[in-house]
Amino acid sequence: MNAVTDCPVVSTLFGHVNLGYLLAESQRLDEWRRFACDGLGVHADAAQRGTIALRIDQHARRIIVREGPAEDVIALGWQLDSEPALHLALERLRTKGITVQEGSGDAAAVRGVEKFWAFDGPKRLRVELFTQPLCSDAPLDMQASGFVTGAQGMGHFAISTREPEAMLEFFQDLFDARVSDYIDDRFNGVDLGVTFLRLNPRHHSIAVAATRGKRMDPIRTRIHHLNLQCQSLDDVTRAYRRMRDMGFVIANGIGQHPNDRELSFYVASPSGFEIELGWNPIEVTDEASWQPVRYRGTSLWGHFPEGLTLRAKLGQMRRGLMSLTRKEYTVEATR
Ligand SMILES: [Fe+2]
Repeated sequence: MNAVTDCPVVSTLFGHVNLGYLLAESQRLDEWRRFACDGLGVHADAAQRGTIALRIDQHARRIIVREGPAEDVIALGWQLDSEPALHLALERLRTKGITVQEGSGDAAAVRGVEKFWAFDGPKRLRVELFTQPLCSDAPLDMQASGFVTGAQGMGHFAISTREPEAMLEFFQDLFDARVSDYIDDRFNGVDLGVTFLRLNPRHHSIAVAATRGKRMDPIRTRIHHLNLQCQSLDDVTRAYRRMRDMGFVIANGIGQHPNDRELSFYVASPSGFEIELGWNPIEVTDEASWQPVRYRGTSLWGHFPEGLTLRAKLGQMRRGLMSLTRKEYTVEATR
């Protein structure tokens, strides 16, 4: 025990951190509300000027969409499970020479946390650290039966990058992330590799995707998708049918991934990044025996593209080529 704080000493952040919230900026708040409440089937709090706050559990806010021009994800919030864990993360960042700012009280309220600390992570996606969420006793008013969260966090996110080595090192250095497995695939004639990182028993909290050979990034938004884990298969299939009937773009229909075995589908959010709604992924419960495996193909079955227009496909190809002319921001560049 630490004599000063009377808290357990934390020497690794593995098992002590999870994905806490997502903050996005959009000019389509009305569409977001319809997408979230009527489509995904999550809880939205009563309208507040310029912000939509979504709940899926007792946390007062899990997805926050504020009015603004970015039409993108601004920040991901990471919950540390104790003050010593937070101090270890902040100490690591200080040692690397990374400037971390404490957020204002107003900014913390927007995110639904007591306090937070923030800095620019890879691709200038803000990394925000907190320990205490604001919670709500108000019953959830949502179409889904529930979501699996707790110590595993709100779900996972996937990100495309032209600097996968730096991105992986960032999460391994900061959070002691462990490799769960890898998937190789080929899309539109381009080879792609995905590395899956876990921070706790959730099979992965982070998926890092990169093209092989020439490094291209065809995705406009900072993240490719946010995954939420539904409690029942009915939650997934009903949301899929609602989304399709409402005219939202189903990026990939229902299918199953080979590594975490989750059944899921992908729908484009009003801001362009996708939401993956899934059910029943495996957990890594025995750290001692887990061995990373390399899979071929992102899906065992299904996940067929449904709403991808030729225009969208051409746009991705153009963005992929344009990305070759730009340097991607890496955290190492600040050292
Ligand atoms: Fe995913």
